[in-house]
Amino acid sequence: MFLEDVKIIENIQIADNYYLMRVKGDKIPKYSKPGQFFMLQCKDKSRVLRRPISLHNVDADTLEFYYESLGRGTEEFTKLSIGETINIQGPLGNGYDTDLEEKNIVVIGGGMGMAPIKYLIKALKDSNKVTFIGGGRNAGAVKIIERFDFENIQVKIATDDGSVGIKGNTVDLLKEILKDQNQNIDIIYTCGPHPMMEAVAKIAQENNIRCQISLEERMACGIKACVGCSILTKKV
Ligand SMILES: Cc1cc2nc3c(=O)[nH]c(=O)nc-3n(C[C@H](O)[C@H](O)[C@H](O)COP(=O)(O)OP(=O)(O)OC[C@H]3O[C@@H](n4cnc5c(N)ncnc54)[C@H](O)[C@@H]3O)c2cc1C
Ligand code: FES
Repeated sequence: MFLEDVKIIENIQIADNYYLMRVKGDKIPKYSKPGQFFMLQCKDKSRVLRRPISLHNVDADTLEFYYESLGRGTEEFTKLSIGETINIQGPLGNGYDTDLEEKNIVVIGGGMGMAPIKYLIKALKDSNKVTFIGGGRNAGAVKIIERFDFENIQVKIATDDGSVGIKGNTVDLLKEILKDQNQNIDIIYTCGPHPMMEAVAKIAQENNIRCQISLEERMACGIKACVGCSILTKKV
């Protein structure tokens, strides 16, 4: 884990309240894997807590963050200009296990859960057969996927209002894929709203398919010190 002042090289609005920030750093990009996140520091020191944002993509010396302007912290990020620096801490979290070959994989991203998916697909696509299912409230919520590299990937989209893809949700599309007897899915990866991930995990369990989910909770420290982000996964 590192602390680094990284330089902003792009910070653009993708749609509605959705933004993409690209930063250039020296050491951090080399050690990051899909599903991990960074704690971004606000310039306004009255916002003491850093804001956790997932790693969207990594290139040689750049990182991308896809974020939604929700409250004062993330709104402050939207105002940062090219050339300014931002202090980031990371990479944090376990990330996804992507060390797989020749598997039939379904990747499901819903809403802001699209954040770790670009890098995840990049890590999986060359050695595996990947189907991507994406969903969101409306066209704005899925606009970011226009920037994903979908070469050799089967893509299925659902939106609540039917403005892009089918009118419905990602779970409907997963059920449709599972009906196809030729599809022998080895593993499902997902990130998105908790009810969506719960439904996906249940379907995976019922069909005896491995499933990796990326959980997120409101955070304070981000480094396992306060136990504020614990999530009940199993009743004992
Ligand atoms: C591991 C992890 C990874 C994340 N990755 C991303 C990402 O890639 N892109 C992104 O846009 N957001 C991500 N989030 C959520 C993001 O951290 C919050 O939206 C952000 O901290 C809100 O800060 P704020 O100051 O703008 O809002 P605040 O003023 O703190 O809160 C404004 C609103 O945001 C809600 N909120 C605050 N924290 C969270 C949270 N952790 N999850 C959901 N809602 C929250 C509050 O309930 C409130 O309604 C992630 C969260 C975690 C824990
Ligand atoms: S935020 Fe997870 S332990 Fe502190």
